[in-house]
Formats: sequence, structure tokens, C-alpha cells
Amino acid sequence: MTSFKHLLLASVLTGVLLLPGLLDARRNPGYSVAGMVTSAEPYATAAGFEILAAGGNAADAAVAVGFALAVTFPNAGNIGGGGFLVYRAPDGTVSTLDFREKGPAAATAGMFLNHLGEPDPELSRRGLLASGVPGSVAGLLEIHRRRGSGKLTREQVMAPAIRLAEQGFPVSYGFHESLINNKEWLGSIEPTARVLYPEGKIPAPGSMFRQPELAATLKEIAAKGRDGFYTGWVADSLVALMSREGGLITHDDLAAYRPVERQPISFRFRDKRIFSMGPPSSGGIVLAQMLGLLEPFKLKELGHNSAAYTNRVVEAERLAYADRNHWLGDMDFTPVPLAGLLSAEYIDNRRSLMPIGRAGSSRLAPPGHAEHLETTHYCVVDSMGGAAAITTTLNGGYGNGRVVPGAGFFLNNEMDDFSAAPGKPNMFGLVQGTANKIEPGKRMLSSMTPTIVTTVQPDGGEKLLLVAGAAGGPTITTTTMQIILNTTVFGMNVREAVDAPRFHHQHLPDVITREPDTFSAETAGRLREMGYEFRQRNQIGSASAIMVAPGGWLSGWSDGAGAGWK
Ligand code: DON
Repeated sequence: MTSFKHLLLASVLTGVLLLPGLLDARRNPGYSVAGMVTSAEPYATAAGFEILAAGGNAADAAVAVGFALAVTFPNAGNIGGGGFLVYRAPDGTVSTLDFREKGPAAATAGMFLNHLGEPDPELSRRGLLASGVPGSVAGLLEIHRRRGSGKLTREQVMAPAIRLAEQGFPVSYGFHESLINNKEWLGSIEPTARVLYPEGKIPAPGSMFRQPELAATLKEIAAKGRDGFYTGWVADSLVALMSREGGLITHDDLAAYRPVERQPISFRFRDKRIFSMGPPSSGGIVLAQMLGLLEPFKLKELGHNSAAYTNRVVEAERLAYADRNHWLGDMDFTPVPLAGLLSAEYIDNRRSLMPIGRAGSSRLAPPGHAEHLETTHYCVVDSMGGAAAITTTLNGGYGNGRVVPGAGFFLNNEMDDFSAAPGKPNMFGLVQGTANKIEPGKRMLSSMTPTIVTTVQPDGGEKLLLVAGAAGGPTITTTTMQIILNTTVFGMNVREAVDAPRFHHQHLPDVITREPDTFSAETAGRLREMGYEFRQRNQIGSASAIMVAPGGWLSGWSDGAGAGWK
């Protein structure tokens, strides 16, 4: 055990376990033999390694990472939000868990419209009406109960998070910066300000950040399970805040919340099989459509991020997002023609609409709003071959900015993911239809795309290849697709695949969003000649991935971990 522990600790402390001489260290991902964890925040990653070292499996470790992220990455990690798991058991069976937030029972289709019938973003993003009924706690506990090894108790898998909340963790430069950037907003709300800016000050990098109220909530959950959150004093504080300040979530909403196990979206891409999340996430269907549209093209020959490659990929994105925005919603409420959208015949027909060598067109739409956004994706693979991909979110960074008094956690503003007014853009500029209109008890459509890829063997068996996903609203799915293409088509290692600059198109607005160094001047010129317009963003998506490298090495990389270690 000790040497195993040291091996894992070495991975955590250096971020990589270098194999000197074998590889070009500047482009190395982290390597490990005994299990791998990647997340957006190093102390949460360490929580996952700690649980693997204690004998937990990928699900146990993922639960530990999830609770730890609620402490160390409060802008996105959460217990007041929701998310999705895609899990592969060592025997190759793949399952998913939907712990997406739900519209409260009192939610109505027009709840975010002002007197002119226009959606009011302040209501759907900042106020207490913005919060859906949280699913994270029920989801993480269910993952531990159903997919955990059975060797570690709830108290054990939650111990690292409780310790980090109680004893604190050193403020990273990134967290410090985020606290500076959000001071005007978050510093003006109580008790948020008291939690994030103790004594009115911005915590300095390296100082210990403690969250005693959050620790108390986590202890209550560790002791009582879901009742520790959905009934009892934590629920009382949440409901009291709601009724005091015009929110809708009631005790009944909380007590009724249940995560749902759903069939994964599973499809072939060449010799790979891909498993991803179905409705109420759009991720799996959009990913299946995009890769299906791209399958026959000689992508490798076209060249990574070349004008010809970008043309094919963008046109596939345009078509898939057009379907997403029109057809998709929570299938418990809205009929979604799933089989049709995924059928080879339909995808072949749609491919004939992809113009080659020139830009297609989407009707013009108003641009989305630029806001600081946060979701977070994490991956765990254990030494038995179990794999967990989880994406979780509060939607906006720090959700609606409201900490539940006495309970120390942030509430989501996920209600903005519904179409507040069908045909009008939401915070991501997504123009969605009635399939995703607000209804009581309904889950809002998501783009989260936790994904597992296997290689299909000649005998039909499957070997784990890749666990991946991202944050970034609608760019989540296109980011995940680019990581799949980068590894499976272009032969990149997992670090190169995550680090490679990305681009994104979502049907409307009809522009390619790109990172500053995605295209050379010449490629950008060619794409402009084809009729494409660009918008630049410093970063598209924030990804995290684990790949089984040649020789069976587990290799991992994450945009966030890179930043966290700097
Ligand atoms: O579920 C969704 O698609 C969004 N609520 C995700 C939000 C997000 O990724 C924000 N940012 N990084």
C-alpha cells in the first residue's frame, strides 16, 4: 500500500509522473500505472487519488472529487447545482446517471418574461428564481451507493472535502483572481460576501481559505445521507431563503428530487465506440450527429485545423446544433425523435446539406452575452479498468451568487438553460425552441458531454481508450468532439489533444468562435474567402481527459490542472 500511495502521491505532487528519456517532457501528460484522476483543481484531484489509494474504485474517487470541488472550486464545483455521470464498470458495462437540476413545481413558462414579453436575464441568472432544484448531492450519493466499491463508507469518501472545508486550503492565484473579478457583484450579497471575503478582504494567494458553514453541511450529509441535504436544517435554510426573497423552491421540491439512471447514447465512430449522455443533455446526440456527419471525410489528410478540415467540422456543427436547438429537451416532458436523429440514413441525408469549400448559412441572430461562466469536468480511471466521467455545474460562475445562509454553499442559476422565450437567445446565445420551454418538474436542456470511448477489437470486445469532457456551455460538446478527433484521428497524446487550440460553431449566431492561435493567418484568410466570419475568445471550453496510452499507461491532462499548477 505504501509504495502504491507514494506512486499516486508523486503523480499528484508533480502533476505528472515523468518517464525520463522516453518522452518529450514538455508535451507530457501525467502518467500513472495504478489509477488516474483529472479535474480542474489540484486539491480536488488529490482527494480522488487519496480515495484510490485507500482502496476505492473510480466511482468512490469521483464522488470524493465531486464533493471536494464544491469546497476548492466554488465557482463551479458544487452541492447546489447538478450534473451527469457516464460510468464504465470493469466488465465493460456502461451506465449513466442524470442528476440535473429540475424546475420547481411552481415554475411557469413565462416566469422570466418582463411586461414587454421579453426575457429578463437578471431574473433567470441572478435572482433566486434562477435556481433549479439541486441534484448534485442526490447524484453523488447515488454514485457512491450504486457504483462504489462497497469498501469505503460515505463518511470516508466525503472526508477529504470535509477536511478541506474545515481546515482550509491555500488560495491559488486563479481563485484569488476570480475573487478580485467578482468582488463588486459577490461582495455586495450577504452571506456570500462573508464566505468569500472574510473581514471584507480579498483572500491573498497562499492564505488558508476555510469554510466552516460548508463543512457543517458536508458533515450533515456524511452523517445522514440525502436527508442531510433534502430535509432537515440544510433544507430549512434553503427554503427559508427562497420564501424570504421570492424564490420558488419548497420543501416538497427538495424531498421529491431523485437522480435518474438513463441509457447512454452509444454509437460507432470508425473502430471506436463512444458512450455519452442523452437527454436532458444534448451532448451525446450532438456528438453522435457531428461525428456521424464527419465519418466519411479523410480528416487526417485534410490536416488538423486546416481550412478544409475546419469547413467540414463547422458545417457538421452547424447542422447538429440546428437540430439540438429545435428538437431537444427533457424527454420526460417532450417527445424527442431520438432514433430518427441518430439514424444513419438521416445523418447521411443531412450530410448532403454540408457545403464543401464554402460557408453554409444560418439565419442571423443577436450575439450572446459575454459573462464569466463555470462548469467543471472530471475523470477517474481505476486500476481495475473502471472509469467515471462527470460534468457538473452551477451554470454561471458562482451560480446566482447566492450562498445559503448557515449552510455555506452556492445556488445554481440553471433555469437560464431553459428557453425563457422560445426563439430568443439565452446566456450562451443559444436560440432554442419549445421542446425546452419551462415546465414544473422538468429538467432544463444541457450541453454537458461526459464521454467514454473504447476501441472495438477484431473479436468484438472493447478496450477502454479515452474518458473526456469539458466545461463551456454549448462549446462543451464541440470541445469534447475535438479531443476525440485529436486523439483518434490525429494521433495526439492526451495533453496535446487537450492543449490543441479549438474552434466552435453552434448554428446561431452564424460565426466561428476561435481561440487566438487556432488558425494561421493563411488558414483564416482561406476560411474568410469561403464566407466564414470569426469571433475570438481566449479559451473555448475547459477540458479534462484520461487516455489509456500505448503500453497500458494511464495518461491524464486537464486545462484546469495546467492552470492550477502554474
Ligand atoms: O448545462 C449546460 O449546458 C450549462 N449549464 C453549462 C454551463 C457551463 O458550461 C458554463 N461554463 N463554463
